[in-house]
Amino acid sequence: MRILGIETSCDETAAAVVQGGKVVLSNVVVSSLSEHQKFGGIIPELASRRQLDFINDVVAKSLTDAHLKLSDIDAVAVTITPGLLGSLLVGTCFARALSFSTHKPLMEVDHIQAHLYANFLIDSSGNKKPPALPAIGLVVSGGHTSLYLIRNFRHIKLLGQTLDDAAGEAFDKVAKILNLGYPGGPAIDKLAKEAKRTKLTFPCADLGNSLNFSFSGIKTSVLYYVKKHQTLKNFSTKEVAYAFQKSVVDTLIKKCLEACQKYSIKTLLIGGGVAANSTLRSELLKKASLKKIKVYFPALKLCLDNAAMIAGLAYHHRHQN
Ligand code: KG4
Ligand code: ZN
Repeated sequence: MRILGIETSCDETAAAVVQGGKVVLSNVVVSSLSEHQKFGGIIPELASRRQLDFINDVVAKSLTDAHLKLSDIDAVAVTITPGLLGSLLVGTCFARALSFSTHKPLMEVDHIQAHLYANFLIDSSGNKKPPALPAIGLVVSGGHTSLYLIRNFRHIKLLGQTLDDAAGEAFDKVAKILNLGYPGGPAIDKLAKEAKRTKLTFPCADLGNSLNFSFSGIKTSVLYYVKKHQTLKNFSTKEVAYAFQKSVVDTLIKKCLEACQKYSIKTLLIGGGVAANSTLRSELLKKASLKKIKVYFPALKLCLDNAAMIAGLAYHHRHQN
């Protein structure tokens, strides 16, 4: 079964074709990010207007790249939530019209669950063994930080989530405080590599045994630190980036391992934009292997918003695992 996926929840306009819920035949992503950068964040009206401009060509290219015609597609899948309302409207209206005019079924997919599903995708040359379920899943993106217990892709239970800022949002806000531009995650990731260590610490809120997260306090503590030291210019931006990133990464790892222990799970799936963070990737692999937990990160291009994860997960809405 070949599913055409459409994803327009934020600044991206994306379309992809996935076969059998697994093999990515094409994956096209166009972003209006560069037009938002001067504003320091995504402007919803601008994002949806660009998506209207792009969507026809993006869908057409996803078919061309897969060497398929629209008639070769068995179903259309689309992100329905969460996301920017205007942006979601562009994708869902397009997908509904396509489904209606071609008489193909329409499948509605949750963007957050799809981020975790990215770990099950392979490209047409690949032959990867899929992760074993049940698993603990962590979605860390610009809008979400959520931990799930995944029995299968129809039974996903939320175990905890951020009480305030998402991890990616904290990266973006701290990058703004440090004048590193938008989006902040990649900039902090790169800069933190230049500081091998520091005495500086910015602790994350301690929520005890709860599997929830809180990242708004750490952002404020970076803000106060920078305000206090910037007039004298006696602080190192690299060290602040390093200390902030270390604290967020340590917290994410701690909660993931606690969830695995609590539910006796040996598979951990990570997804979302922050899953591209190099320190999170290396430290989590190291710490989880000590507990014999197998960690999966999607390929870098599948960590960020894409439509392959939407088409892939949609397959399981029709087929029990
Ligand atoms: O999943 P995504 O593409 O969009 C949402 O659904 O939010 O995630 C975007 C978020 C942004 O906050 C961005 O700063 C963060 O992912 N991000 C990173 C890295 N690359 C992207 N955060 C930390 N380190 C990175 N390398
Ligand atoms: Zn996302």
